[in-house]
Amino acid sequence: MKIAIASDHGGFELKEQIRKHFSSLGTTLEDLGTHSADSCDYPDIAHKMVLCLLQGNADLGILICGTGIGISIAANRFKGIRAAILYDDFTAEMAKKHNNANIMVFGGRTMKVEDVIRRIDIFLHTEFEGDRHNRRLAKIEEGI
Ligand code: RB5
Repeated sequence: MKIAIASDHGGFELKEQIRKHFSSLGTTLEDLGTHSADSCDYPDIAHKMVLCLLQGNADLGILICGTGIGISIAANRFKGIRAAILYDDFTAEMAKKHNNANIMVFGGRTMKVEDVIRRIDIFLHTEFEGDRHNRRLAKIEEGI
């Protein structure tokens, strides 16, 4: 499975910590930037991630901004994208089980790295339940 990661400046430090953690375990995350703590616009970062996933260049994404809010709003405007802020361990499990999220979102200014790494593990080790949740996800895709 290929996982891409990206952040704005508000999530840069946390992105680097996550990337290094996975690298120490022998897993390379595809780093879509940003590549420094210089200010940048989170919609640009979200759009990069959306394109990467929709073009099939990664299976899952990790997005980080200061709070996780702006970058998830930006990503969720696109069909086929389900970006979920994993704000606790239970949410990390449910985001896969019920929502089959394809982007895990975190807040660089609101979350601790050890919590984030644990939530990523929970998400990756949980299965989507399908069944009635497929019907609900189809309704999201359909829109109004
Ligand atoms: C950038 O200062 C900050 O607004 C951004 O990282 C994010 O928190 C937006 O929701």
